[in-house]
Formats: sequence, structure tokens, C-alpha cells
Amino acid sequence: MTKRAGFATRLGAVAAAVGSAVGLGNIWRFPFEAGQNGGGAFILVYIVCILIMGIPVILSEFIIGRSTHSNMKAALSRLSPGKRYYLFTYVCILGSFVVIGFYSVVCGWIIEYLYQAALGGLQGHTPEQYSSMFTALVTNPWRCVGWTVLFLLLNFMVMSRGIEKGIERVASVMMPLLFVILLVFCVNSLLLPGARKGLEFLFYPDFSELTMRGVLDAFGQAFLSLSIGISCLVTYSSYFSDDTSLTKDATTVAALDTLVAILSGVMIFPAVFSFGVEPTAGPRLIFEVLPGIFQQMTGGYFWALLFFLLVFFASLTSTISLSEIPITFMIEEHRMSRPRAILWTALFTFALAVLAALSFNVLDQVKILGKSIFDAMDYAASNIFMLLGGLFTAVYVGWILDRKVVHEQLTNGGRLKGAMEPYLIFCLRYVAPVSIFFIFLYLTGII
Ligand code: PHE
Repeated sequence: MTKRAGFATRLGAVAAAVGSAVGLGNIWRFPFEAGQNGGGAFILVYIVCILIMGIPVILSEFIIGRSTHSNMKAALSRLSPGKRYYLFTYVCILGSFVVIGFYSVVCGWIIEYLYQAALGGLQGHTPEQYSSMFTALVTNPWRCVGWTVLFLLLNFMVMSRGIEKGIERVASVMMPLLFVILLVFCVNSLLLPGARKGLEFLFYPDFSELTMRGVLDAFGQAFLSLSIGISCLVTYSSYFSDDTSLTKDATTVAALDTLVAILSGVMIFPAVFSFGVEPTAGPRLIFEVLPGIFQQMTGGYFWALLFFLLVFFASLTSTISLSEIPITFMIEEHRMSRPRAILWTALFTFALAVLAALSFNVLDQVKILGKSIFDAMDYAASNIFMLLGGLFTAVYVGWILDRKVVHEQLTNGGRLKGAMEPYLIFCLRYVAPVSIFFIFLYLTGII
């Protein structure tokens, strides 16, 4: 086997994991999910989810990846020889294709907005005009597919040139910048007339607004946002050095990811209420609201440009980590060359992404269980694949994996305290399976 490269510094490893986690899930999906599920109560459930499921599952993926320094399939075969747990890897691979399929369509929209921002096209319109602008984009199959394909080409070009580490390095500068920009936008949004209503919506938990479906969405959102449940973090942590503290890294990733999501909410909701946009607008929400925020800022042209550029890089580090799942698998398990693995991954991804992009226009009549292709992929990705993957990972590390491996990984062979171990095991053994079981009952219509 070829020698696998490692991350040179702790910062490199954590930055890559944060790069994977922070993306459109935080900036685009979190606000609209919160908007559709009543705001405050959803956010509270989301945070509980991060604590009882998110951090434990991140840690579990880290344990599987770093203890074996291999991809998911090889790792599970090594950790449980003679057993068939490794078969779950195929579910992860399928899941990663579904995620990247719908995700890259939204990345395409980001490029269009970046382009519009550069042309100055985001300036000087009314909220209604911003809304029709978005409709014009998604209902035009050429534009929608064109931008999606362009994004994917960029993504696979980066991967085939082997410059993804370079992109991650760039992103580790861009991410803090994105964070600062979000803060600036939050302040501007809060200064809008009527901003208070947005904050109330976001932080006042009105449980009468929360449905079982909302709870399910909060779980799905947490998993998607943290990049867990499809072995992405197993792949990344397989490159971690044996000295990094997994507990520290897992909590850092979860904390930064949640912070970016909440900041995105604080940026969007005051503006939603101030401009009179429906909080339940769904996937179009941020595209209708953001241009209005830029508009009333001094130097709005540059802010808009910078914002979409940073979001573009944040999405690229996420899609790189997503495509790395099938690519590493094909190279290491099927002895494919890297270019070949990239080609196959790209072909599957293009097919799915084009279908998702066309579901807003040419294929808008096609429904899967009452949902458009895009919505069905989005739903299946987070609420089915990632949730199932999370359950598998929790049960595997909690019940099946030798406790010595868990202890060894948390304490780095006795050099660290590993104080989190009892909490981790409790969540993995009981909390995760019980909550996912209830969700499953809900999905099958029993409750
Ligand atoms: N976590 C990413 C986001 O929030 C999406 C993602 C999911 C990336 C799964 C990798 C794996 O945008």
C-alpha cells in the first residue's frame, strides 16, 4: 500500500475538518430550516442535538478513522475482522453522492450571485424584484444547469490537480474572514427597522410552533452541517496525527460550525422581518434577503462581492471533502488510479446534480413521494442517509467496538485524561439509538 500523507500541523487537520463542516449547510440551509420550523424552538432542539448526538458522532468517526488510518471500509474490516460491518460503507458512498447532487446546485446559485454581484446587478432593487430575480435563475434550465456544471468542473479540477490541500490552506485564511464578514452583516441587519422581530423569532422558543417533523429536521440539519454520518470525518481523521486530542478537535469543529450557523440566522432574520419576506420561503430565503442587506450598506457592491466569494470557498472545501469519500474508497479499495476514480465520481455526480438542477424547470412535474427531485435528494441526504449513518456509527462505537480502542484514542494511549469517555459512551449507547428510534417511528407514521 502506498504511504498516506498526514496533516502537517494540528491546525491543518482541524482546519480541514472545519472547512468540511462550514459551508452552505450553515449559511443557506440553517436559516431556511429554522424559518420553516418556527425559529427559536427549532434552534434549541438543534443545539441539544449537537450536544447529545453531534459531538459524540464526530468523536466516533474520529476514533474509527484515526485508530486505523484508513478509509471507512478498510477501517471497519480491521476493527471487526471477519464481520460484515464494513458493508455499511456502501450506504455512506451512496449518501455522499446524494448530498453532493443537490448541494452543487446551490453552489451553482452562489456562482451566479457572485457574477451578478460583480456586474453590480444586486444593487438597487425592491424585495419583490430580488424574489423574481431568483425565480428567473432557477426556472431557466440553461443557467441553472450551467452554473452547477461549472461549479463541479472547478471542484473536480481542483481535485485532479491535487491542489485541494492548497485550497484548504487558502480557506483557513478565508474562514476567519467569513466569520468577520458575518459579524459585520449581523450588525447591519440588526440596524434595520423592525429587526427586533427577527431576533425574537430566532431566540424566543415558541414550542407550539415545533412539530415532530421540526425535530426530525433539526437532527438532519445537525448531521448535514457537521458532515457526519457518511464517513467524511472518518476519511479526514485517518490523516490525523497520533498526538492531536480528538476530544478537543471534535468540540472545536462542533462549536465553530454552530457559531457560524447561529450568526447566519442573526444576519438573515432581522432582514426577513424588516423586508417582509416570508420566513418559510425555503431554499430561496437567503437569496431574497441578502441583496437587500448589501444594498443599504456603504460600499455594498464590495461587501456583496466579498461575501459570495467567501461563501464560494466555504462551499468548495465542503464539496472537496464530500467527493473525497468515494474517491479515496475507489483508490484504496478498488485499486483505481486517482484520475480514474475522479472521473467516475465526477460522472455520477454530474448525473445527479443535473437532475437536481432540472427539477426547478424542465423536470418540475416529476415528484418523488410528493417532493421535487431536488427536495427529495435534500431530504433523503440529511434525514435518511446521514441519520442512518449516525445511528450506525453510534451503535458501532458504543456497543460493538472494543472499549480499549475508544479509551486508547481518547487518551492518546494514556497521555491525555479522556474525561469525556463516560459521557460519550452514554450518548452513543442510549441517547442516540433511542432518539433515532423515535424519529424512525415518526417516519414510518407510527407516532
Ligand atoms: N457540512 C457541510 C455544510 O454544512 C456539508 C457536508 C455534508 C460536507 C457532508 C461534507 C459531508 O455545508
